[in-house]
Amino acid sequence: MGAYALPAGAGFAVNRLSPALGAEIVGLDVSRPLPPHTLASVREAFQTHHVLCFRDQRLDDAALTAFSTQFGPLEKFPEKDKTRGAPEVYHVANVSAEGEQLPPEDPRVIFQRNNARWHTDSSYRYVPSLASLLYGIEVLPEGAKGGETGFSNMLAAYAALDDAMKAHLDHLHQVHSYGDIRRLEPQMPPMSREERDALPPVTHPLVRVHPDRDFQRSLYFTSNTSVEIGGGTLEEGRALHAQLLDWISRNEFCYYHRWRANDLVMWDNRVLLHRAIEYDYARYRRVLRRTTIAGSGPVMGPYWPVARAATGRRGPWPS
Ligand code: OGA
Ligand code: MN
Repeated sequence: MGAYALPAGAGFAVNRLSPALGAEIVGLDVSRPLPPHTLASVREAFQTHHVLCFRDQRLDDAALTAFSTQFGPLEKFPEKDKTRGAPEVYHVANVSAEGEQLPPEDPRVIFQRNNARWHTDSSYRYVPSLASLLYGIEVLPEGAKGGETGFSNMLAAYAALDDAMKAHLDHLHQVHSYGDIRRLEPQMPPMSREERDALPPVTHPLVRVHPDRDFQRSLYFTSNTSVEIGGGTLEEGRALHAQLLDWISRNEFCYYHRWRANDLVMWDNRVLLHRAIEYDYARYRRVLRRTTIAGSGPVMGPYWPVARAATGRRGPWPS
């Protein structure tokens, strides 16, 4: 697709990847600190496109961490056995940290399969993450089936709902619980008590408002922890969850990223859902590494702007 208008002197190209979302960044080496004006251009492109794919990067874990930290403090991953070197570097692979391909029934591979459900990273935190960065080290060969990362645009998916559905969703919440991954993937060994205690379940509104987007709304839900939505009967909540999943899977909202080795893909967890597309786990090796940028505030629901206006305050967050 065509080149996107660039701020003068940005020194790299931004090309759209799909009508729904996403752009590739070509001609930028992110292994070195970026000058402030370049970083500002990257931030602007990120805010516009929600997914940025930096092509042809050469990053070790330290360089990935250093680049990521320029966007904010990093989250530590909740389970140490799924990280590599540092708790901030999450090993996303069907291959062990030592490089050995794992059998499909290995809990680490089952955990990858859980990533195939539409979700947004660390929604199980009271303050969920802002963004994730995923670096492709070993990717599926050309022509192999699966292995893409799918993204769906929750700003667009919300905007396209009819008014009756928007009104129906306004006051609903979902419970997000890291421990509930085990409910959906019962073959996984239990978490330690410390891991469980560190992450009690939280609720978030289904409709999220964005202080950095003039209070625009988006959908906010997941299917990798719970599949129930509160505010009605259990059956109603499950049926609504299934209906929303169908809705956000429509092609008009989605982009599926076919990985090339050395792609660094950065996405906005506040306004997107994503999922890994299943592949033949026994046949192919897939190794990526992820960092996660912590969010700057809780998920605010549709009644929040009214409540905020009543305080007479103007800042993005109540203070
Ligand atoms: C993740 C994730 C998608 C993929 O690491 O959070 O969802 O394609 N990964 O591996
Ligand atoms: Mn994820």
